[in-house]
Amino acid sequence: MTVEDVAARGFGSAGDAYERGRPSYPVGAVACLVEELSIGPGATVVEVAAGTGKLTRLLVPTGARVVAVEPVAGMRQVLIDKVPDVAVVAGTAEALPVASARADAVLAAQAFHWFRVGEALAEAARVLRPGGGLGLVWNDRDDSVPWVAELSALIHWDDRPVPNHHDIDWSAAVAGTGAFAPLRRRRFRLDQPLDVDTLVDRVLSTSYIAARPAAEQRALAGDVRALVAELPDRIVLPYRTEVFWCRRR
Ligand SMILES: C[S@@+](CC[C@H](N)C(=O)[O-])C[C@H]1O[C@@H](n2cnc3c(N)ncnc32)[C@H](O)[C@@H]1O
Repeated sequence: MTVEDVAARGFGSAGDAYERGRPSYPVGAVACLVEELSIGPGATVVEVAAGTGKLTRLLVPTGARVVAVEPVAGMRQVLIDKVPDVAVVAGTAEALPVASARADAVLAAQAFHWFRVGEALAEAARVLRPGGGLGLVWNDRDDSVPWVAELSALIHWDDRPVPNHHDIDWSAAVAGTGAFAPLRRRRFRLDQPLDVDTLVDRVLSTSYIAARPAAEQRALAGDVRALVAELPDRIVLPYRTEVFWCRRR
């Protein structure tokens, strides 16, 4: 099993901070996927790179059978604790531990940019039955808000040394497989209310920061606290959420 080194080290050491600090997904974004991809009782949903189960737990109420695939043990352990009602399996997007044509939907939240995209799309096409659905979701901090832009500058978000989903033309990548109908897209908004400690967790659970030495992480935590010192105790971190989906031919 191979996962980008920084993902393995960063996510592997930060499962608890990830769970505390990362946002959920907008109700409307989940409803969009549920409706467009016919997710409900009797359906089998493979969620790739499920992490600590931020999306997974929102799929449980649909009544679908959810198989959560996650390669990093530290993330998987939190997922098992938080979402006990789903099947959790070790595996990667490029080699899904799922039989061919078995899934009604394949979903990935905040994750597809970590994969080898061509291989992962081919794997999704393999495990989906004809007509099954592919759904991709990302939350992006809303940098049009000044203090959020300053936070992004502090953590060098624009020159981060890890894959970035904005660098990939997802419609072209999906079209290139020949296996899917054209990709569709909708945008949503999400506000994450959080206190300063949770914001620090959010920053420290960022993969390339979680992989840095402890002293560097402590210094950055201090800088984040200084940045938000003038904000109210209950901070609201705004996100824009993008949802993409299509059907297997
Ligand atoms: C930013 S987290 C997203 C976790 C979760 N989906 C969520 O919404 O919070 C990215 C996840 O991708 C996983 N990952 C990285 N490379 C992967 C690969 N090649 N195959 C499957 N998962 C991978 C990491 O272990 C991590 O759990």
